[in-house]
Formats: sequence, structure tokens, C-alpha cells
Amino acid sequence: MQGKDINIYRYITLYSLDVICESSMGVSINAQEIEDSEYVKNVKLLCKIVAERQNRLRERFDLIYWLFPNYYREKRAVRQIHNFTYSVIDSRRKLLDESSPQQENDPEIKKRVAFLDMLLQSTVDGRPLTREEIREEVDTFMFEGHDTTGSAMSFALFLLASHPDVQNQALEEQKCMFADDILRPATYDDLQNMKYLECVIKETLRLYPSVPFFARKTDKEVEFKGISLMG
Ligand code: HEM
Repeated sequence: MQGKDINIYRYITLYSLDVICESSMGVSINAQEIEDSEYVKNVKLLCKIVAERQNRLRERFDLIYWLFPNYYREKRAVRQIHNFTYSVIDSRRKLLDESSPQQENDPEIKKRVAFLDMLLQSTVDGRPLTREEIREEVDTFMFEGHDTTGSAMSFALFLLASHPDVQNQALEEQKCMFADDILRPATYDDLQNMKYLECVIKETLRLYPSVPFFARKTDKEVEFKGISLMG
């Protein structure tokens, strides 16, 4: 994709970052407005470093990675991202500790910080999650969530623009659903009924998968199609 298309991808990715950050941590990083905020810059830098490392054979080996500038850039960006997440976790924990049971049940407070709140109040095998475990979960959501949806939405728009007949059908479906009021926000039920749009998104993910592959290591021998795999 080139020119204007790249801008669309950038805006959609920043939009996804805002949405995911709000729903994971309950804070706004205003990525769309403050594109040069430290957090946004570091997220973008890490995405770039990961892509570069995949393409540069010499940077792939852990043993010598420290010889390259990306190693230090990556370490610094990760540290700053962790610090930001920790500061949000700490302030949210403080707020929870200080809030009265009445405030805790306030639907507005609940709605805004559902995921982080849930982690702060969760236990695994009877013990609460550590600060680091919570940070890991929030960071996974932030990373898993923003780039995958950002690229899926960008490619969906690209494909809709390339296939006007499909775009028209998708638009017709929306018109039927919002005939009463085109400006009303979509409800959960509306989303369930966007059958054609769902097909468009699934076909987009088939053609341009946000996660094209993933790897697993086995800790014991596995037999697959007659071949014995290990490692
Ligand atoms: C188009 C959108 C998305 C696609 C195609 C996608 C795809 C995937 C895939 C293939 C995996 C499995 C990776 C593996 O097992 O190695 C995965 C895991 C995961 N995804 Fe997504 N994802 C999307 C959006 C999201 C969003 C929006 C969130 C959260 C807000 C999210 C959170 C996660 C988490 C937490 C995991 C599990 C990581 C783990 O195993 O520890 N994903 N996703």
C-alpha cells in the first residue's frame, strides 16, 4: 500500500490503540491526537524493530543481538512501556483500595476499567496476581489487540474500495439496519446481525491474515502425519 493508503493504516492503528488502551487499562492515551506521546512512539518503535529483526538474519541470534543498536532501542522502549503500564496499575489499585463499596458498584467506574479491574481482583490457585503478572496480561492485550485489528480494518477498507459491488452490498445491509436513525450508535445485537459485513471481514482475514502463522514448541515427542516431531 502506498501514499494515502499508508495514512489510513496509520490512523486506524492509532484508533485501535486508543480503543484497546481504554478497554484494557481504562485510561486514554489519545494516540490519535498525541501521536508523539512516549507510549505511542514506543509501541510504533517496537513494531518496527520486530519487523526489522525478522528481515535481518544477523540480528536474529540472541547471542550476538546485543551488538546491534536495535537491541538497546528495544530494551529502552520495553522499559518505558512497562513503566507506563505499572503506573496505571498502581494508580488504579490505589483508587480501588480507597473507593467505598458503593463507588465500586458504580456502573460508570465498572464500565471504564473492566479488564484491569478484573485482573486486580483475580486470584489464581487462591493467590492474587502479582504486579508483574498483571502488567504482562495488560501488555499482551495492548499488543495483541491494536495491530491485529488495525491491519484487519485497513485491509477490509482496501478490499471494499477495490470491489465496489461488495461495498454496495455492505452499505445496503447497514442502510437496512439503521433506516430508523442513521446516527444512532450500533448495539451488540446490531453487530450480531451484520452478516454480510462479517463475511467481508472473514474474507479479508483469509486473504490478508493479521496473524499469518504462529509457532509452538513441544516438550514431548508428537506424531503428526506419520512424522515424529520434537522441539
Ligand atoms: C483481527 C483481530 C485479531 C486476530 C486475527 C487475532 C489472532 C490471534 C491468534 C491467531 C492468536 C493465537 C496466537 C498463538 O496461539 O500463538 C491470538 C491470541 C491472543 N489474542 Fe488475538 N487476534 C485478534 C484480536 C485480538 C484482540 C482485539 C485482543 C485483545 C483485546 C486479542 C488478544 C489476544 C490474546 C490475549 C491472545 C492470547 C495470547 C496468549 O496465548 O497468551 N486479540 N490472537
